[in-house]
Amino acid sequence: MQYGHFDDEHREYVITNPRTPVKWINYVGTLQFGGFLDHTGGSQLCKGDPALNRITKYIPQLPAGEFKGETAYVRVRKNGQSAKDAKVFSPYFVPSLIEPDSFECRVGMYYTRWVCTYGELKFDILAFIPRGGNELIRQYTVTNTGKEALKVELIPVVEFSHFDALKQLTNADWVPQTMQSHSIETKSGNAAIAAYAFMKRDMGVNVFSANVKASSYETDRKRFLGDNEYGTWQNPLSLKNEELSSIDAVRGDTIASFILPAGEIAPGKSSTIITQLTQVDRLDLAAAATEKYTTTEAVKKAFDELSAFWDKYLSVIKVNTPDAAFNSMLNLHNPRQCFTTKTWSRYLSLYQLGYGSDRGIGFRDSSQDVMGVIPQIPDEARELIEKLLSVQSTDGSAYHQFNPLSMVAGRGDSMEYEDRPHFYSDDQLWIVLAVSAYVKETGDYDFLKKQIPFYEKDKNEKPLETGTVYEHLQRAVKFTHENCGKHGLPLLGFADWNDTVNLPTGAESLFTANLYGWALLELAELADFRNEKDKAEEWRKWYSEMKAKVLDSAWDGEWFVRYFDDKGEPFGSAKNEYGKIWLNGQSWAVLSGFASGTDKGRKAMDAVKKYLATDKGIKLSWPGYNGYDREKGGVTTYPPGAKENGGIFLHPNPWAIIAETILGDGDQAFTYYQRINPAAKNDSIDEYECEPYCYAQNILSNEHPQFGLGRNSWLSGTSSWTYQASTKYILGIRPEHTGLRIEPCIPKAWKGFTVERTCRGSVYKISVKNASGVSKGVKSIKLDGKAIDGTIVPWQKAGTTHTVEVEM
Ligand code: GLC
Repeated sequence: MQYGHFDDEHREYVITNPRTPVKWINYVGTLQFGGFLDHTGGSQLCKGDPALNRITKYIPQLPAGEFKGETAYVRVRKNGQSAKDAKVFSPYFVPSLIEPDSFECRVGMYYTRWVCTYGELKFDILAFIPRGGNELIRQYTVTNTGKEALKVELIPVVEFSHFDALKQLTNADWVPQTMQSHSIETKSGNAAIAAYAFMKRDMGVNVFSANVKASSYETDRKRFLGDNEYGTWQNPLSLKNEELSSIDAVRGDTIASFILPAGEIAPGKSSTIITQLTQVDRLDLAAAATEKYTTTEAVKKAFDELSAFWDKYLSVIKVNTPDAAFNSMLNLHNPRQCFTTKTWSRYLSLYQLGYGSDRGIGFRDSSQDVMGVIPQIPDEARELIEKLLSVQSTDGSAYHQFNPLSMVAGRGDSMEYEDRPHFYSDDQLWIVLAVSAYVKETGDYDFLKKQIPFYEKDKNEKPLETGTVYEHLQRAVKFTHENCGKHGLPLLGFADWNDTVNLPTGAESLFTANLYGWALLELAELADFRNEKDKAEEWRKWYSEMKAKVLDSAWDGEWFVRYFDDKGEPFGSAKNEYGKIWLNGQSWAVLSGFASGTDKGRKAMDAVKKYLATDKGIKLSWPGYNGYDREKGGVTTYPPGAKENGGIFLHPNPWAIIAETILGDGDQAFTYYQRINPAAKNDSIDEYECEPYCYAQNILSNEHPQFGLGRNSWLSGTSSWTYQASTKYILGIRPEHTGLRIEPCIPKAWKGFTVERTCRGSVYKISVKNASGVSKGVKSIKLDGKAIDGTIVPWQKAGTTHTVEVEM
């Protein structure tokens, strides 16, 4: 079944049936102030820290028909009717669940717009947070399409959370004793309520307001629902009364709600009301804050600024290929998701609940997320890279996670095991890839000279050591170089990319070996470019040594093994009962180049096709473990076919796509792409369930009875890597130190494609023709009509536009 459709022209996905299989969400704002809106109007909002400064009470585990965080009701009556007889419904469908005559939830670029009709009333509701702003704005326009005048009242509701999100769920005495919500006086006399936990009165005050006067207000959930809360959100008893209580709450389950008269709307006429939810530092600042977005002009200006940001963001890479779902993802939804993962890391979604403030940002995750936004927002990307480098240890390894506000870092879950190492072998290597991608994109080689402290500090909180960015990268590979095990392969540490395989101390990781290989190649290339012969030579030597060790020890006959355990036994081998073959073991041997010059890369990827590929994506491993085993770790906590235990974990799928493009099989690469493309699932999404406009983290595999079910949408490394796989490897357009490389690997049936790519300040209008019907192989490239040698278009002067014609 379909719940909506893509509207690429308006850069929106349009949900037309509100009964989606799970909530479909959209992000607004940033980590400074923001969160997400669900398609039925609910909101999860935070300022700064989702764990410690939560604003709305959004409990994802409640059933879909329940109220979550925010909603609004509309009360409509014809002349003379009393409140008791008025029609009451929510224009968002939830929580009144009264069927709309038409429903559109338009999921846009960091805004959501609802356009729906209930009887004679048509609603157009626009919700967004201005760029860099601290306000969630909702602009409601109600139009009377009928023949009689209607008296309309808008009753928006916000339910507040205690700022400490976890305490809200775990303490039902202290929390409600601290919560307060009361009306405040404003210069305009317009509706305004301030709400906060008592101890935050001088530190963080939430303010909900409107641009019109309220006829009454409510601050307490119990009074709003009525009958000691035996009234419901679906049918709040207080709305049967002419007015709300207008009593301030000095404790309890606090809300902010008003009756806002939209007036007597004549046939054909409209009325517009704007609401604003914000947080200010102190109560005495609350009144002034309500004056910010009170006119449609002010809202329009802020919305235009937001649109302008996205115009620019989306203009950096614009593609036109024969595949509509591919175009839609690449031009709109995938870049937006990359912005989202870069901004929110793994903090806050329907699935990542943002309760533990120590979780924060993952070093590994953000180093990969950042690669998805370098072309569009290089400065923001660099800032994040700097933060990441500042939690690198002097020994070259990285602290696994950190809180981006306090910049306090930690060694993650590894600290729960005394008998295990506390480093994650892959973490520090990702940042080498990120910095390399950053300098290739921007040409900002000075960044390599920037001094950034390492994490460890003395008693006075002064960093023990500081080094250039380049020094940080060198220590990263050196750490791996010096921490190898029995086979000369990198020690696993607590884990590698697969967080959930936690083998006893002494285990080795093939994943880390390959990632180290890729990182060394990046560094060696950089050293070549900087004319540093000795360095380039040393890193190439380390590379060849590791390559030899991988090829000598890790080939299992039909594929590569994935780990060696502490006893030196292979893990991910035909001789294992479970977890015989692992996807990353194969794709990464191609990505690192270690398999090149042998037939092992092709064989390994053929084994992927044979044992791991399904028509809904590639499984992470096979067969799944069947029972908990502490020796293996978290992977055995899931049933076979779920998540890392043989599920279709999506993040590694693009690595298989990249591997196929390196091996030259564009049809296989694109088949793998299409199988996980959520946009391609739009017409029969009941099985997959999640949003068709962004990637999920995992899909249950064919080892699980619910094969095909997607979960944990939005905050996944899948986003950055599918974007990179498709732009840099399928379309094959990737910045190098000396120019823009163009080496597509596409389905043979494609007759060609075009891409407009802005890089280092100039625009390259690239058109690729594939008259010979090949997957890979560039015959000729013309830059502004003149043939060039090779596949790298040299960098052109900033501010200029060029045509690039490519023949395959
Ligand atoms: C989750 C983690 C990520 C890890 C992956 C595989 O997505 O956020 O760090 O690499 O799982 O275990």
